[in-house]
Amino acid sequence: MNIILIGYMGSGKSTIGKKLSEQLNFDFVDLDDYIQEKEGLTIPEIFKTKGEIYFRKKENTYLKEVLELNNVVVSLGGGTPCYGSNMEAILNAKDAHSIYLKLSIPNLVQRLSSEKSQRPLIAHLETDEDLTEFIGKHLFERSFYYRQSNQTLLTDGKSVEAITEEIIAGLF
Ligand code: S3P
Repeated sequence: MNIILIGYMGSGKSTIGKKLSEQLNFDFVDLDDYIQEKEGLTIPEIFKTKGEIYFRKKENTYLKEVLELNNVVVSLGGGTPCYGSNMEAILNAKDAHSIYLKLSIPNLVQRLSSEKSQRPLIAHLETDEDLTEFIGKHLFERSFYYRQSNQTLLTDGKSVEAITEEIIAGLF
């Protein structure tokens, strides 16, 4: 079985994915890290030198590769489910359980405010107000895809341990 973590930037996909994989004794794949390794460039470098369309094409190729693995926890990028046939591929993947980690906008803003430089889509936003407005619109568009996940988990105010336990309890 594979577990696929879905959610907006800053929703904790990587941190929770890592912890979950340790608890389940599964391998862990962070799709952004996988792309960076394969391409030999960081995500901001890929966006800057090759553009977003190139990134989305590679993201689709490497997503399909990781969906072929077994007994892995996969943390996707925030945009992964929202492009091309990616969500369909996630939902049709054999033995895969997809989980949307849903965090409220104020909490996303708080997390992303200090981390935006590494994220090309929000790096240009100067104030928390700009960030709030951007995330509000962006999340509204993306929720259409996120909501198709097999499970939605509300994560506001919960620790990484609590979220991990909740996921495991729902699996067995
Ligand atoms: C993106 C999210 C990022 C990364 C890229 C694009 C997005 O991943 O894939 O910067 O479109 O939301 P994280 O969600 O891990 O930040």
